[in-house]
Amino acid sequence: MKTILVTGCNGLLGQKTVLSGSKDNNIIGVDLHKSPIISDLRYHRLDITDKDRTMSFVEQISPDCVINTAALTDVDLCETRPDLAWKINVEGLINVSEACLRTGSKLIQISSDYVFDGKYGPYDEDAPPNPINHYGRTKLESEKVALSSSPDNNIVVRTMVLYGYAPGVRPNFVLWLINALQQGTQVRIVTDQWGNPTFADDLAGLLIRLGTSDLSGLFHLAGGDLLSRFQMAQLIADAFGLDKGLIKPVITVQLDQTAPRPLKSGLKTGKIERALGVKPLKFKEGLERLAGQMGQLSPNPT
Ligand SMILES: NC(=O)c1ccc[n+]([C@@H]2O[C@H](COP(=O)([O-])OP(=O)(O)OC[C@H]3O[C@@H](n4cnc5c(N)ncnc54)[C@H](OP(=O)(O)O)[C@@H]3O)[C@@H](O)[C@H]2O)c1
Repeated sequence: MKTILVTGCNGLLGQKTVLSGSKDNNIIGVDLHKSPIISDLRYHRLDITDKDRTMSFVEQISPDCVINTAALTDVDLCETRPDLAWKINVEGLINVSEACLRTGSKLIQISSDYVFDGKYGPYDEDAPPNPINHYGRTKLESEKVALSSSPDNNIVVRTMVLYGYAPGVRPNFVLWLINALQQGTQVRIVTDQWGNPTFADDLAGLLIRLGTSDLSGLFHLAGGDLLSRFQMAQLIADAFGLDKGLIKPVITVQLDQTAPRPLKSGLKTGKIERALGVKPLKFKEGLERLAGQMGQLSPNPT
């Protein structure tokens, strides 16, 4: 049984990671909030930008592994508040990374396909990064810190378009779309942003496997289908029996988003497939599992 510290444990990936790891490991969670969303979790309130508290807390529990899911994840907010984004996504990670170096803990840093410019995706691990927004720049810097501080031990996992159900988290693309279509709201969905939607539950299970392995280095870990957002929306409507006629195709420039988005993105996952002997989950399967969870959790899922 390993001791695993999950930072950002109240977020989507954080909650899923706690749930995935709890059966076979000693899981401790930290986040900014007063209390944990998962009620029986060993939880502490910790802001990873507080260097002294982060160092002393990690030293006190001396985990085998730290999975850092804590981040400022609102891409447009990162663009308008670049100092805040840097403070959390880079300086916070530096604190965690230095603490891990002191305790000899393995660090898994979660990064993003937004380190790429979206000109030539899908990308493998050897493709040169070239972020086009501030969120991507903070993520790329965090990768460098994590991999240089303990190259034989630490892992960076790049992922993208996370979806899944968890209480109290920011709405992800899939849940937002289901909700909008259920309300009968017309939605404008881009046809020119491509990527692999990734079921957070699936990713979380693989993070726990990585955290208890001897592997190190950079891995791409994402769902098994490369789709445009418009295609994703169509599949979501099909899976939940919702009205596809409400989904209107647009292109990215029409949305006037604050931060530029990589368009032709996507992550190739051959390296992790070979390392762990896994196949990435297909989007349809992920949606079926999600529908099952929402059926259990909500009296009126569709
Ligand atoms: N979501 C995606 O599609 C996606 C794609 C690629 C990569 N990723 C990466 O995957 C990781 C997890 O993403 P997610 O979607 O699960 O994010 P999330 O739901 O936004 O969760 C992040 C959690 O970290 C907390 N947090 C923020 N600042 C913190 C700090 N200084 N100290 C401690 N905790 C802090 C957040 O609290 P508040 O909510 O109060 O701020 C939140 O509970 C992130 O590193 C993200 O960059 C996500």
